[in-house]
Amino acid sequence: MHDAERATPWTAPRPMDKRALYDDLARELDALLTGETDAVANAANAAAAIFHALPSLNWAGFYFLRGEQLVLGPFQGRPACVRILSGQGVCGTAALQRQPVLVPDVAAFPGHIACDTASRSELVVPLLAGDRLLGVLDLDSPELARFDALDQAGCVRLAEIVVRHLGGFARAASA
Ligand code: SME
Repeated sequence: MHDAERATPWTAPRPMDKRALYDDLARELDALLTGETDAVANAANAAAAIFHALPSLNWAGFYFLRGEQLVLGPFQGRPACVRILSGQGVCGTAALQRQPVLVPDVAAFPGHIACDTASRSELVVPLLAGDRLLGVLDLDSPELARFDALDQAGCVRLAEIVVRHLGGFARAASA
């Protein structure tokens, strides 16, 4: 078999149980990012890993805090809006509240910013280094109510792993 055809952790069949899925993904993500200190490289690989590991996503990626704005970072999916003010949309709300925001139906979320019209539900988790907000992890799905409390807890864990591997770049830029 050609190397490119071999199943990787990102293409292999995934366990259906969500806890097991996030356990596997957390372990694999940590291994993938360990040993590299470049924040852009690690955020890019994290976005790709998450996008390919979790089912039914049409967008997965990062916005990083630059002053008062969230600015688009590495992602997988269709091109997205570049700048989001704190408090705006689902991402800006999660940033302002420093809490995950789970939106079962984006049409019912006042101020939702529609980057991809295919998105029907969304989960945004803040990236926190201690009490400092670095940005957010944003996941979009074409399915209504795609995300539940297990996804939220799993993605909080993934965000913690990403933050540990962002090096100084994102921290310095958000200062
Ligand atoms: N829907 C987001 C904007 C970012 S895109 O989904 C990639 C929001 O309302 O903040």
